[in-house]
Amino acid sequence: MILVVGGCGYVGTHVVKALLTAGHQVTVLDDLSSGQAELLPGGELVLGDMGDRALLDELLGSRRVRGVVHLASLLNVAESVADPARYYRSNTSKSLTLLEAMVAHGVQSLVFSSSAAVYGEPVGLPIGEHHPCRPINPYGASKWMVERMLQDFSSAYGLASVSLRYFNAAGADPQGHMGECHEPETHLIPLAIQAALGRRPALVRYGRDYATEDGTCIRDFVHVEDLAAAHLKALDYLWRGGESAAFNLGSGRGYSVQEVLDSVRRVTGCAVPVRDAPRREGDPARLEADIGLAQRELGWLPRRSELDTIVRDAWRWEIRRREVRQGRP
Ligand code: UFG
Repeated sequence: MILVVGGCGYVGTHVVKALLTAGHQVTVLDDLSSGQAELLPGGELVLGDMGDRALLDELLGSRRVRGVVHLASLLNVAESVADPARYYRSNTSKSLTLLEAMVAHGVQSLVFSSSAAVYGEPVGLPIGEHHPCRPINPYGASKWMVERMLQDFSSAYGLASVSLRYFNAAGADPQGHMGECHEPETHLIPLAIQAALGRRPALVRYGRDYATEDGTCIRDFVHVEDLAAAHLKALDYLWRGGESAAFNLGSGRGYSVQEVLDSVRRVTGCAVPVRDAPRREGDPARLEADIGLAQRELGWLPRRSELDTIVRDAWRWEIRRREVRQGRP
């Protein structure tokens, strides 16, 4: 059985779907603080907190757990700046409780959902895994601290782990059953689609004066289904005896904010109403991943991460999501 902590979230539900499709038994531990039980595609759901050691002892002691996928985390950068204690408590301290419980119960394989935010301001592009890790906000620091603990837990206790550093997770289930629903939503693609559909007055475009071709920021978007596939590859890698490591997950190609808006217009047939605003604090001009290591070591290749495909899947989900909310599934 695979224990998926945070399996009711955006990436988590896709990971659960991929695990079930591959024939794994899945137990999800989620406190539903941001995840949604109704989007879980199957498996057993245990409601509870990753920081509850007694619950973890019960779960890990009563089931044959072959591996843990840990995706439970708060993820709003601005919120982490305003309330770092909450981020270090939820993302870092509770992760330590999970790691200790795994060691106590002899569960030795962990896939951890990390972030490109561990790198901070890029000093060279594309960003490879050896790029210095100097996070510039508490969210990134809270992830980096877990990665550091994992390195030490690997050496000292033999807990083998893969940290997956997501760049910009985007898109939705191609069948339209699962997708992004953060509350509040802060991510570019869902906000741009909602604006195109008239569900928001406008997309606020943060900054047109960056040193990029069209003056807007460049990001590396990776389809959530590609991300999910990488978690299975990472488990296989660990079960084959692979060493603890961190891997970038992106598409390897950046698109500007303006290119995203153009894609939304192409896909939806509606122009995105835009309101220009100054730069958002802490946004680097350009983030692009070097994904060669994940390709070589995990045998992973993004397959759905072309921009229009991502936007099309996200758009279908946005429409479907409204129907689900209105009771027309
Ligand atoms: N943007 C806008 N308007 C919006 C929202 C975003 O112009 O309303 C722009 C941002 O300024 C940025 C780009 O769109 O240039 C992407 O912004 P997102 O908020 O969608 O994503 P980020 O790149 O800021 O964040 C992502 C992940 C975080 C992670 C961060 C750093 O979502 O979890 O990368 O790696 F911390």
